[in-house]
Amino acid sequence: MLEPQNSLFSAATLQTLLEPVTQIKPFKTQLLKWIGNKQRFAHEIIGYFPTDFGTYFEPFIGSGAVLGTLAPERAVAGDILKPLTEIWQMLSTDPETLTRWYAERWQIYQQHGGKAGYEIVKASYNALPNGADLLFLSRSCYGGVVRFRKDGYISTPCGVHEPISPVAFAARVALWSERVKHTTFIHSDALETISMAGAGDLVYCDPPYVDSQTILYGAQDFSLAALLQAIAAAKRRGVRVALSIDGTKRSGDKICNIPMPAGVFEREALVNCGRSMLRRFQMAGETLEAEEVSDRLLLTY
Ligand SMILES: C[S@@+](CC[C@H](N)C(=O)[O-])C[C@H]1O[C@@H](n2cnc3c(N)ncnc32)[C@H](O)[C@@H]1O
Repeated sequence: MLEPQNSLFSAATLQTLLEPVTQIKPFKTQLLKWIGNKQRFAHEIIGYFPTDFGTYFEPFIGSGAVLGTLAPERAVAGDILKPLTEIWQMLSTDPETLTRWYAERWQIYQQHGGKAGYEIVKASYNALPNGADLLFLSRSCYGGVVRFRKDGYISTPCGVHEPISPVAFAARVALWSERVKHTTFIHSDALETISMAGAGDLVYCDPPYVDSQTILYGAQDFSLAALLQAIAAAKRRGVRVALSIDGTKRSGDKICNIPMPAGVFEREALVNCGRSMLRRFQMAGETLEAEEVSDRLLLTY
């Protein structure tokens, strides 16, 4: 049963928790463009991670911003979108082929004057969804927003900016393959990935935004309630879990309106609002001045 949860901390405790525990340098070089990516403030999120975890799990990998910034010693990362996991698996097993995938499609793009070349790659993906085409589409589509129809078909038109050159892309591959060299990539539902975590491990969840994003990823089956139950079960096993959620404008009233199961989350940080701050859960009548987009980071520890 989901119920709103009250703060578990006294004001004095909150003071001691205000500072992020980990200092990590920002890493802003994207491998893929991905809607909802956390590249700009992944280092802020990581600031709230513990330093003494065993295996790091990221069950909603997307463009892997947090994983790439963290560059963990041991990790498992998964996503429900199979072509996306093909990209990550190729990065980790054969980065040269990943670079070639990009270069071949970049050439088609150039040979056909941009837009028509993009449409050829898109048609190829839609005929048979695959990582090689998705890689190029993610880098070259309009606004970097790969949009999926319900049936998995990509409908996004060609972007207005020139996609980066194969040489520039190869440099990113080199950078990223080093950062994820200890990560195993799996094609898996998030709940399955979370079930693999054991005592001492850390899970970071960045699910589709509940009210607007499921359609973008073709993930209509995603259920926040089921995810919260899986997180509660993981906590009982001794796993620490950080959950990013929301991301709507703080001017809306959505920031507090997702009920959380009692006793699962201990703390909450607000990330990407110009500064990070820790606050109590569900503070009655709270007004926060900033009107920027912010993400809630809920911590089970
Ligand atoms: C908000 S994005 C993650 C963005 C990522 N943090 C980044 O920085 O790019 C959510 C991801 O969850 C994936 N997804 C949606 N439903 C899923 C599910 N049930 N299991 C695993 N992955 C899922 C989507 O394919 C998408 O890549």
